Amino acid sequence: MDMNSLRINGKRLQSTLEEMAKIGGTPNGGVTRLALSDEDKKARDLFVSWLEELDMEITIDEMGNIFGKMPGKNNDLDPVMSGSHIDSQPKGGRFDGILGVMGALEVARTLKENNIQLERPYIVVDWTNEEGSRFSPAMVSSGVWAGELSLDWAYNRTDINGKKQGEELERIGYKGSVPAKKHPVHAYYEYHIEQGPILEREDKTIGAPKGIVCLHWYDIYLEGEANQVGPTPMVGRHDALVAASEMITAVNKMPAKMGIDNLVATVGEIQNQPNSRNIIPNGVHFTVDIRSWDDDLAIRGWESLKKDFNEIAERHGTPLRMEETWRVEHAPFDDRLVKRVLETAEEIGYSSHYMVSGAGHDASYMNHFCPTAMIFVPSINGRSHVEVENTSWEDCAAGANVLLHSVIKSASETE
Ligand code: GLV
Ligand code: MN
Ligand code: MN
Repeated sequence: MDMNSLRINGKRLQSTLEEMAKIGGTPNGGVTRLALSDEDKKARDLFVSWLEELDMEITIDEMGNIFGKMPGKNNDLDPVMSGSHIDSQPKGGRFDGILGVMGALEVARTLKENNIQLERPYIVVDWTNEEGSRFSPAMVSSGVWAGELSLDWAYNRTDINGKKQGEELERIGYKGSVPAKKHPVHAYYEYHIEQGPILEREDKTIGAPKGIVCLHWYDIYLEGEANQVGPTPMVGRHDALVAASEMITAVNKMPAKMGIDNLVATVGEIQNQPNSRNIIPNGVHFTVDIRSWDDDLAIRGWESLKKDFNEIAERHGTPLRMEETWRVEHAPFDDRLVKRVLETAEEIGYSSHYMVSGAGHDASYMNHFCPTAMIFVPSINGRSHVEVENTSWEDCAAGANVLLHSVIKSASETE
């Protein structure tokens, strides 16, 4: 057959995504499918059943990563791999992550129904807990697999209720026995929604990021002094929440204060103790997320915040503890693969755009040891990590076609 005219089945990809969107579906059209929840388990089971239908060789490792392998003509050659994640944010969208797993599955379905056997094996992957929302950090299981994070540390990360990640893996039946340990990969492609406004603004269908920004995560703990709000005078209080509020404002102002626009800083999570309207707060935990293409800049931003935090804590008499939870350096992708994505888009007839990914992806850790690239499609109104997250079905199919032909090209290379 003429390989160049081969296309994925857009209707099948759509119905696959629609079926997945029912698992953890929210009334407002999004999904809540937190890592290692019952919903995550249900979606994994469905994904595994779809891999079985294709007679793929299924492996579940000790981090719960799911791999489906389609043999090649020469199984001594390193495989081509593609995938993303099935877990979601709380009240997240129907495309983040799942598009990349179902897109990679759709590529396998297309190859199988056309009786195409590639030279190299092709592996579809679901990485456990990419989001880092229930258990921090994000991308933890590709991080363990790539040898960058330790298995024990990952197992012992706890959620807000004190449940351990390792125990939850076991509870849902996805703590496999195969070591979560990298093996050589010839090329890794991750297909994903853009999650930002650039492609729509540029009126382009396919994005090819040159890489991913660095991600630095911190956890801040403040200790205050609880007391009755009525009788306690304003002067002399040690209010942990008031101190935290000044710190949060400092985080938001930090990039501008440094005179820089290629840096973003966010506080997204906060817990306040005892969280009663008539008790002065005596304990606050909040998170800081700093990202930039320039790792040094992100670190300078943090150094400046640390000074501000110490000054604020001292002034309020609220002792401070700062944890540097997680750092992943910016990931410049493989030039040759990025170019391949751009060229493939053009060959198929889609417009394309060279850009940077401001969102984190498992591709970041994969990039540490194998040639890696990503394929983006537009996010309507640039919204993501929200229930209204949306991408047109046409664009979903477009990205999957670019993935299909990028995979075919890489899997046809015999050296
Ligand atoms: C992952 O979703 C991230 O960019 O935080
Ligand atoms: Mn994602
Ligand atoms: Mn996400």
